[in-house]
Amino acid sequence: MCNSKHYLPRRLHTENNIKAVKWSQDYLKADLRPYNIVVDFGCGTGETAAHIGSLEMFGPCQVVGLDINLEFIKHCTLKYRLNMVSYFWNQHPEDFVFLKNKVSIVTCFSVLHILPPTKQKMVIDFMKDILTHDGHILVLHYLGRTESCFQAYLEIHLQLQTKTKWRPYLNKHHRTLCTLESEAKTAASDLVQTMKKAGMRLTTKQELASSVIVNVNTIKTILSNPSIRRLEFGQAYDDIPVDLYGEFAAEFCELFKNFFIKNNSKFMMAIFQVV
Ligand SMILES: C[S@@+](CC[C@H](N)C(=O)[O-])C[C@H]1O[C@@H](n2cnc3c(N)ncnc32)[C@H](O)[C@@H]1O
Repeated sequence: MCNSKHYLPRRLHTENNIKAVKWSQDYLKADLRPYNIVVDFGCGTGETAAHIGSLEMFGPCQVVGLDINLEFIKHCTLKYRLNMVSYFWNQHPEDFVFLKNKVSIVTCFSVLHILPPTKQKMVIDFMKDILTHDGHILVLHYLGRTESCFQAYLEIHLQLQTKTKWRPYLNKHHRTLCTLESEAKTAASDLVQTMKKAGMRLTTKQELASSVIVNVNTIKTILSNPSIRRLEFGQAYDDIPVDLYGEFAAEFCELFKNFFIKNNSKFMMAIFQVV
């Protein structure tokens, strides 16, 4: 269990999540009610909920991280559980009827875009159900090529194992910046429409730039620290020989450049309320 506010590792994307929370604090502070429960839906490896809770980013309140992946919940519980921060496996959403209409803020960071439409609807209905009538859902939505990034990670991993090169793969997935920008606009308006269909109205939104700086040094730093490396890349990268870190980092950065992943550094933070 984590006992100190100071032991809170930040994964690459945690920086973005915290930035998004800070922006929301400014918006929500006009609303001076004390918040009672904050749920981080799809909390993943738990760092964001741990920051929100231990730094009291929405004031003193209970923070509950929920995730469908039991391994993540075990990890979060072992590493970050505090008096005010707990984590639960929500394989069965009906287990959480006790939260019905009790939650002031639901954060949903980088979750909706990975779900198919039917699952999205179930998730939004669940979040709406646990929310107080005047509560807020905070959605962080990447506007770039997130899905392709995952494919790219996977592909690098596979190709590292087979020692092949991944340039043909990159070429196959290359798209122009113009296409990416129009995809970003569509992603933003799709989210608002999906939430609207589920009975949620957009109260405010903001595009934010990512704090993540991907360069050879950042990647080398991640590779050199076993616990951060596992958080970011999984165990697969344990096998890379230390003397190849530099080469791997350079290849990785080239991948980002080729994929226009810079463009992926744009994300939208949107705040919704029940209609
Ligand atoms: C891309 S990760 C984002 C994790 C975390 N929110 C963050 O920003 O670090 C998406 C997370 O959503 C979780 N997830 C997907 N479907 C879910 C569902 N129906 N209920 C709860 N969690 C879900 C996944 O297990 C995964 O941890």
